[in-house]
Amino acid sequence: MVNPVSGFHKKTKEQKIEWLAANYLAGDSQSITILKKYWNSDEALQKLHDDFIENTISNYYLPYGVAPNFLINETLYTLPMVIEESSVVAAASNAAKFWLNKGGFKTQVITTIKNGQVHFNFFGNVTDLKAYFSEIKPTLISSIDTIQKNMKKRGGGLLDIELIDATETLKGYFQLHCTFETGDAMGANFINSCLEVIASTFKNEAQSFQPFKISEAFPEVVMSILSNYVPECLVRAEVSCPVSQLSVEGLDGETFANKIVRAVAIAKATPRRAVTHNKGIMNGVDAVILATGNDFRAVEAGVHAYASKDGKYTSLTHASAENGIFKFWIELPLALGTVGGLTNLHPLVKFSFSLLQKPNAKQLMEIIAVAGLAQNFAALRSLVTVGIQKGHMKMHLMNILNGLNASEIEKNKAIDYFKNHQVSHSAVVDFIAAQRN
Ligand code: MEV
Repeated sequence: MVNPVSGFHKKTKEQKIEWLAANYLAGDSQSITILKKYWNSDEALQKLHDDFIENTISNYYLPYGVAPNFLINETLYTLPMVIEESSVVAAASNAAKFWLNKGGFKTQVITTIKNGQVHFNFFGNVTDLKAYFSEIKPTLISSIDTIQKNMKKRGGGLLDIELIDATETLKGYFQLHCTFETGDAMGANFINSCLEVIASTFKNEAQSFQPFKISEAFPEVVMSILSNYVPECLVRAEVSCPVSQLSVEGLDGETFANKIVRAVAIAKATPRRAVTHNKGIMNGVDAVILATGNDFRAVEAGVHAYASKDGKYTSLTHASAENGIFKFWIELPLALGTVGGLTNLHPLVKFSFSLLQKPNAKQLMEIIAVAGLAQNFAALRSLVTVGIQKGHMKMHLMNILNGLNASEIEKNKAIDYFKNHQVSHSAVVDFIAAQRN
């Protein structure tokens, strides 16, 4: 049985590994060798990665790929994508190529407002609370003068504070709903720092507000935190072309356009399909989010909440084929940063920004919305024509071969053979077994 460990974070990396080996790995030297194999020989680079989190014992690689030929608002981009799923980069590249000679992708940032809340309890007289809020609001704003100074210079800062009565959802529950502009920073630290100061000012000043004293009912702050639900930080990306230009896989343009429109309608009709449909969108979104050092958990949470904003989980993309024109578009809430966080630290994130020609946060929103739209187009194109497995398994073939420890000769033979045969795990196993016999 393993005993609890105290002061684990104070141990050196070697000591941590020794502790793990002794307690969980029965001293298995193979596992230790693997962990160390992933250490970077450049000590400074390794130290940088060690310091990103607590208790780092190794690095975990994911492939860093690129998808070229993305024409976005008349500029050609190559998108950096970090993802383990075999077919995602190939699908993105195909979609980019498909739209390249049809006008490419058009995008528009709709709004860039972020938000956070001071959540508090109040069981006194609501009229007193409203009076207190009106009186104290200028003080709440000036209490963050120092924190806001630099952000304001960059054109951002607090936009407004509203008192929200949320007692219909939870007895005694109110919010100070604060909105912010954070420019090219994702702004999580800035927003949270502002909220914490606003919260303590709000709480402290309440002690001397006469009506609260008389009723002995004071607001009690529960917590202060930004919201990852950012429906006011919204970007739209779109492709469109005459239906006649859409013929693919032996289908005429009209048939193909109608099939895509129907596939989107199905995703709008049922959450069972919408979740998978949106997952495909997030294949593209997350891959670029990771490559650019942004917070994919925040984006995922916010995007899926947005997909349910009308009370039912539904498709994030939309399609129409009307008057001979096919349109396919997406609206995504994306709170992103191109400065701060990992963006100035991680060498590969810096590389991603160079590759993307140093976008600002709005441009990154546009690029990432395009990645999601392209990924969805590629998935739907396969789904309504040849099926998803053909392309997916073609890309997955190498994983199966690597899993079977195939030699280079075996791999080349397999690639040749499976050009004309359906890839499945068992078919590849049989093929390799036959080679080895
Ligand atoms: C697989 O990662 C993504 C898809 O399932 C998306 C979709 O079904 O639209 C292919």
